[in-house]
Amino acid sequence: MPIVTSREMLKKAYEGGYAIGAFNVNNMEIIQGITEAAAETRSPLILQVSAGARKYAKHVYLMKLIEAAEADTGLPICVHLDHGESFEICKTCIDGGFTSVMIDGSKYPFEENINLTRQVVEYAHDRGVTVEGELGRLAGIEDDINVSDEESSYTNPDQVEEFVEATGVDSLAIAIGTSHGAYKFKPGHKPQLRFDILEEVARRLPGFPIVLHGASSVMPEYVEMINKNGGKMPDAIGVPEDMLRKAASMAVCKINIDTDLRLAMTASIRSYLNERPEDFDPRKYLGPARDNIKELVKHKLINVLGCAGKL
Ligand code: G3H
Ligand code: 13P
Ligand code: ZN
Repeated sequence: MPIVTSREMLKKAYEGGYAIGAFNVNNMEIIQGITEAAAETRSPLILQVSAGARKYAKHVYLMKLIEAAEADTGLPICVHLDHGESFEICKTCIDGGFTSVMIDGSKYPFEENINLTRQVVEYAHDRGVTVEGELGRLAGIEDDINVSDEESSYTNPDQVEEFVEATGVDSLAIAIGTSHGAYKFKPGHKPQLRFDILEEVARRLPGFPIVLHGASSVMPEYVEMINKNGGKMPDAIGVPEDMLRKAASMAVCKINIDTDLRLAMTASIRSYLNERPEDFDPRKYLGPARDNIKELVKHKLINVLGCAGKL
């Protein structure tokens, strides 16, 4: 099975009313947990790599680990650059074997975002690679960039047709109220997303795949497990799963999840080491962490994204 682009996956997801999980990867255990879950549930899969992940693990290690996962499971995998911030990083990832890249020009004025995105699309499409663009800004933390609530902004549906037309992107990330990280909504407030914006974007771009970032649910059981074992994560709140199911049944075809993986892994490691303080073999705590990631991803694929069995 080859490493594949996202084009067919997203098209089928749009038609089928489900979403593909795009999971962030940083090391071997995370890659194994996710790919084993996808293989066992026969789910199409996007593994995404941030600039921070490339810096931490190195491009070549992640690429080889993903190739190994693909050889081990027989799963077709799309390898995607998450939040590429320049033409150069997109080019490096395309040249280095990624089959999909995101160029995130959302911090630039509209015209500048269009020009940068179009430049990446031209390079990528010539090489058979798909491109995700972004319009509107999510709040939260990615790498070292912290976008405050005041700087964030919802996507303006009036801009989407021109953006897609002028850039030639294959999918579009929009901002409807999700944010990156574990603290997405104010404590005591009911989480809300602007489904009206999603609906209007979908109306203006019929058949076109939309991407939802910042889509971790921040499951209370993980936060509790972390806090019970020495962690301090008060007021962590994520996107309710029923909202993700609704988005997946609409035009959202790719749903990005990173924070939930981090929580599953950390909860497992904290609890293991707290219960067995005499242990010092990394395999002893990384093994259960990998199992926990696998269980979490299976749950997402089957019960939230609806993509299990869609391979
Ligand atoms: O959107 C951001 C992802 O959670 C990646 O996070 O940049 O810390 O690797 P990172
Ligand atoms: P979360 O922080 O909600 O997992 O979002 C991840 C993401 O959007 C990666 O691009
Ligand atoms: Zn993101």
